[in-house]
Amino acid sequence: MGNPSGKSLLRALSGESVSPPPWWLMRQAGRYLPEYRELRKKAGSFLGLCYTPELAAEATLQPVRRFGMDAAILFSDILVVPEALGRKVTFRDGDGPSLEPLPTADDLGKILDSAKLAPVYAALRLVKKELPDKTALIGFAGGAWTLACYVIAGHGGDFAAVKSWSKRDPDGLDRVTSVLADAVAAHLAAQIDAGAETVQIFDSWAGLLAGEEFRRWVIAPTQRIVENLKRRHPAVPVIGFPRNAGAMYAEYFAASGVDALGLDWGVGLDTAKILQQHGPVQGNLDPELLVAGGAALDAAVRDILKALGSRPFVFNLGHGILPETPIEHVVRLGELLRGGP
Ligand code: CP3
Repeated sequence: MGNPSGKSLLRALSGESVSPPPWWLMRQAGRYLPEYRELRKKAGSFLGLCYTPELAAEATLQPVRRFGMDAAILFSDILVVPEALGRKVTFRDGDGPSLEPLPTADDLGKILDSAKLAPVYAALRLVKKELPDKTALIGFAGGAWTLACYVIAGHGGDFAAVKSWSKRDPDGLDRVTSVLADAVAAHLAAQIDAGAETVQIFDSWAGLLAGEEFRRWVIAPTQRIVENLKRRHPAVPVIGFPRNAGAMYAEYFAASGVDALGLDWGVGLDTAKILQQHGPVQGNLDPELLVAGGAALDAAVRDILKALGSRPFVFNLGHGILPETPIEHVVRLGELLRGGP
């Protein structure tokens, strides 16, 4: 174990207890930052921002400049993978993503259009040149199950269509998640080639499944992604974030092959400590506490550090930062994590 780099995130992910622990925030680039809103206006559209390397690199660097997190996460979106497989994706302002729903399992193209994704890799190369020595660069992709949810339903939020598909045509769903897993592995490998030092798999809708279905469509495709990736990049740590996995977190951590486990804010600290016996964990402040600030924020951060901070740990939120988060509260969080008063 151990990572020779001086980057605290990579050390923690390789199993070292780092004090104070490294921190970054899911969705750390985004609408709570005035400089992001400015950049977003300049880009015109959200996907335009994702696919313009100079602008995506700038969005990636903004939070790190302002708050000095220990990692930058590529500014992009999980839906660039379905788009590069030929599904049409649009983002309407304030409305979330919208895709053309997938008619049948055999309608999903198997070939990932790497020219479409080239600007994403170009953005990583630009960021890599600008980052301070201590700051790690994180690449990411959606989990195959979460991508399948968007590809099948065509939108976020209500995945009744995916549930009914899973009962009607489970073998078709296997084919969809396998195609997506291979595309995700290729996309993550290319991000590592472009400079990403670790990658996170966001399986945001993992909590919709349990038991055998969770094994089949969350754990198995994640194993497929990790095995494929480790063949090409054995030393690069993978963070898995099967949000709301509840009772399935332990099995996911033991069986999926990920090196570190991201926890949502619903996981109690006693459970988090048990999961940490298996390897490094990341999380899991409730994003609403970062909106609230004050004594509640201070106390919650201290509780998390006390429970998890003396073993391999990465401080993060338990889901993405909310657009209404006051900037001063993120500054305060940085102070708390660096042992401030
Ligand atoms: O963490 C970061 O700073 C990196 C950037 C990042 C974005 N999306 C930028 C974004 C990451 C890691 C994601 C992941 C993502 N995208 C997930 C998984 C994590 C999660 O939140 O569960 C999902 C499900 C998506 C799909 C997606 N993209 C949705 C549902 C939405 C709309 C929700 C919203 O907040 O409006 C997006 C849009 C999106 N992705 C924005 C950003 C900054 C907001 C777009 C804007 O600027 O208007």
